[in-house]
Amino acid sequence: MDLLEGYRKTLLTIAGNRLVEKLSVKYGKRLARRFIAGDTLAEALAETEQLNRKGIMVTLDHLGEGIERLNEAAGYREQYIQLLSAISERQVDANVSLKPTQMGLSLNAAACYRNIRDVVLQAKKCGNFVRIDMEHSGLTQATIDMVLKLHDEGLTNVGTVLQAYLRRTEKDARELMENGVNLRLVKGAYKEPESLAFQRTEDVIEHFKTIIRLHLDQGVYTAVASHDDRIIEWVKRYTADNGIGADAFEFQMLYGLRTNAQEQLAADGYRIRCYMPYGVMWYPYYTRRLAEKPANLLLVLKHAFH
Ligand code: FDA
Repeated sequence: MDLLEGYRKTLLTIAGNRLVEKLSVKYGKRLARRFIAGDTLAEALAETEQLNRKGIMVTLDHLGEGIERLNEAAGYREQYIQLLSAISERQVDANVSLKPTQMGLSLNAAACYRNIRDVVLQAKKCGNFVRIDMEHSGLTQATIDMVLKLHDEGLTNVGTVLQAYLRRTEKDARELMENGVNLRLVKGAYKEPESLAFQRTEDVIEHFKTIIRLHLDQGVYTAVASHDDRIIEWVKRYTADNGIGADAFEFQMLYGLRTNAQEQLAADGYRIRCYMPYGVMWYPYYTRRLAEKPANLLLVLKHAFH
């Protein structure tokens, strides 16, 4: 295990500790603001307008995951329905992302499906799109199954995410592509065992490139979500060398990370989308960002002293 892997695992383990969570929620909010657009929808929409003006599209994420009671899921469902109406009224260039466990997947799969379906129906009414984020590997198949079932029902304005660190991902990519499902491709942000996931960064990057290539070569619209120049520069070169137009793919990055790079990609004529979380349930999202990179921790600390 290299140093960075050790750092990532340690932080993800500490983050799971309830006491650390309580202390962080009490004292850490100001630090977390580096990665969160605000507590409210109004703040997130204002921020979305700012980014749109710079040519950056947005994915809005109403923070929440791992709920413990189903009525919480109903609350999130209604928030997303409102969010989709607000996007349409404000005419901002944004779609939405939600998490399966926010909609109740760990409690009741059928209820989760109905909640997500309601959100997707509202998105359809508004001419918009819903991305179902991918959580830990225990939920991968259930998430894929929900997306395929929604497509079977004719709701094609929903897609999901595939994680390059998972060994199964190439097979999943082929199946989902055959079914016309729009995918976001990422490295993967959870702690996974070696039996399921590549552990070495170079292996994850190679697998990531294989899956991106698979998409681009099939002419399938590809969303590449990464801050890693080894991926971004490779995509730019691969598409240029193979005559693939800039409208065939988009880059995605997280709010608060590599802001200059996001603006530069837009200025260079690439499609770039910023994933913008907002809301009060910021703790798990925030600790995953810190776990990804020691530099993110430094960024947060720097921000804290401004
Ligand atoms: P990583 O963090 O591994 O960094 C690699 C290199 O990139 C660095 O060494 C540096 O060169 C450069 N870099 C990174 N951050 C930088 C910074 N702030 N400044 C300068 N250089 C920097 N995961 C998941 O499991 N399910 C999901 O649904 C999603 N969804 C999602 C959406 C979007 C839009 C993004 C961008 C990411 C996700 N992820 C995700 C998270 C993803 O799986 C992954 O954990 C992170 O993107 C971190 O990996 P990266 O490829 O971005 O680079």
